[in-house]
Amino acid sequence: MASGQLSRAEALACSGRRHACHVMLYCDTKTQLFGRFPIRHIILMQMRFDGLLGFPGGLVNPSKETLEAGLGREVLEELGVAVPVSVEDHVESRLVPPSSPYSPGLITHFYVKKMEEEQIREVERAAVCTATDHGQEVLGMVRVPLYTMRAGGGLAPFLSHSFIGNARSQLVDSLLRLNMVAPEELHKALTHSLEMHTQTVEGLKAALEQTEGKRKRF
Ligand code: APR
Ligand code: MG
Repeated sequence: MASGQLSRAEALACSGRRHACHVMLYCDTKTQLFGRFPIRHIILMQMRFDGLLGFPGGLVNPSKETLEAGLGREVLEELGVAVPVSVEDHVESRLVPPSSPYSPGLITHFYVKKMEEEQIREVERAAVCTATDHGQEVLGMVRVPLYTMRAGGGLAPFLSHSFIGNARSQLVDSLLRLNMVAPEELHKALTHSLEMHTQTVEGLKAALEQTEGKRKRF
């Protein structure tokens, strides 16, 4: 198994660890952006309270509830609607390495669940209208753009954002495993994301200079 990866049973047998469960909800769609770019799949992620992108879910205590029941509870709080997630939806469990800046020693469990397009739209509505966490722990739901536009917009800029923990790798792995994006296309998008980082660094330096100027004046 890849480093840090555990079976669900091995993960549950680890004593004294904290556990977190997250889920990728998605559906197929025939809709097109600008009538030209097939959207193909709606994948739900969220802008978290810490300014990072991640999947719905959260901390679960396996001594008090099953992983899936805990995930269901977190999903209800964050999305405002009950979405049953079962053991069959489990994809991987992983131990966050001690060197990680995000929750070292935590065990993360990742699930993927396919839904109907109308159900996904209902989740998006509930996430704004009824979720207790809306505007607080969850700043908003976002869809993952899987297309690439002529000037490079779409998947590449999305992947270049900042993600919590290993959420980017969970997304990339799911795109490949579910054949949502061809490996070659994904490779190109990630290469472009890396190039965009150079521009991001330049943009951040310029913004920093702007604040430096203000600090001197006041
Ligand atoms: N990979 C690795 N770690 C992750 C991932 C991921 N894809 N997604 C989340 N985490 C980590 C977070 O860093 C966090 O420490 O899992 C932990 C729990 O996930 P959250 O969704 O942030 O937890 P939640 O139960 O929704 O609570 C929100 O409230 O009590 C605080 O600090 C606590 O971050 C937690 C917050
Ligand atoms: Mg959460």
